[in-house]
Amino acid sequence: MSTQTNGNNKPLLEAKDIYAGYTDFDILQGVSLEVYPGEIVCVIGPNGAGKSTVFKTIYGFLKIRKGTVIFDGQEITNKRPQQILRAGISNVPQLRSIFPQMTVKENLEMGMYIEKDKKRIAERIEYVLGLFPRLAERRAQMAGTMSGGEQRMLEIGRALMLEPKLILMDEPSAGLAPLITRMIFENVERLNKEIGLTVLMIEQNARQGLEASHRGYVLELGQNSYQGTGQELINNAEVRRAFLGG
Ligand SMILES: Nc1ncnc2c1ncn2[C@@H]1O[C@H](COP(=O)(O)OP(=O)(O)OP(=O)(O)O)[C@@H](O)[C@H]1O
Ligand SMILES: [Mg+2]
Repeated sequence: MSTQTNGNNKPLLEAKDIYAGYTDFDILQGVSLEVYPGEIVCVIGPNGAGKSTVFKTIYGFLKIRKGTVIFDGQEITNKRPQQILRAGISNVPQLRSIFPQMTVKENLEMGMYIEKDKKRIAERIEYVLGLFPRLAERRAQMAGTMSGGEQRMLEIGRALMLEPKLILMDEPSAGLAPLITRMIFENVERLNKEIGLTVLMIEQNARQGLEASHRGYVLELGQNSYQGTGQELINNAEVRRAFLGG
């Protein structure tokens, strides 16, 4: 995929010089990243680099000690997760999060637990099911009985219920077979094109993740190391050697 920022030069999300950690030690030591409207941006880096930690700070699950997060023109630094959800960011966490004993439809409803308007919930369910025919066929099925790829689509669908401006996905392809991984990335790209969904994702499948993305960041030891378009990173000799298997 090529460079693009939809001609809009104001970032939708801007994390600036973030410091945060779980103890006195700062795991993140000055991480910065930007996501422009309409982009798919991929974060890669070794295990333990701090990728998920960045998402936790953006989402208010972990306190930022220094640095700022701006979303859609507003500062959201250290706001609570529910405020961030209301502001228009939804989150698909690294650990799988569907409710196995609920149906597909009930899982989607959970994505709108902060909404009281029943009619609007019903409309959103139909809208999201319209985006994912595989889920529509299974609307009454127990989510726990679906395949891994279908469950992942359901998590993404649930994250779309509140009509977010930005979706964070922590390793959407984790634990999935190569063909299913491809299907997930194809769906992410399709949603980006069809409904203009802006995506910030973390990926261990670095090459495929970058191929599906407009831009990418490499994090190492809690700091930015490389950044560029997906293609630039794939072509960068050092990034290839370290993260893309030569
Ligand atoms: N809840 C926690 N308490 C203490 N330390 C943590 C906690 N969560 C993560 N860490 C530490 O923070 C560092 C960064 O972890 P993080 O989960 O952000 O890495 P990551 O880049 O997402 O790795 P992976 O690719 O394995 O998911 C690691 O050293 C990890 O052990
Ligand atoms: Mg992680």
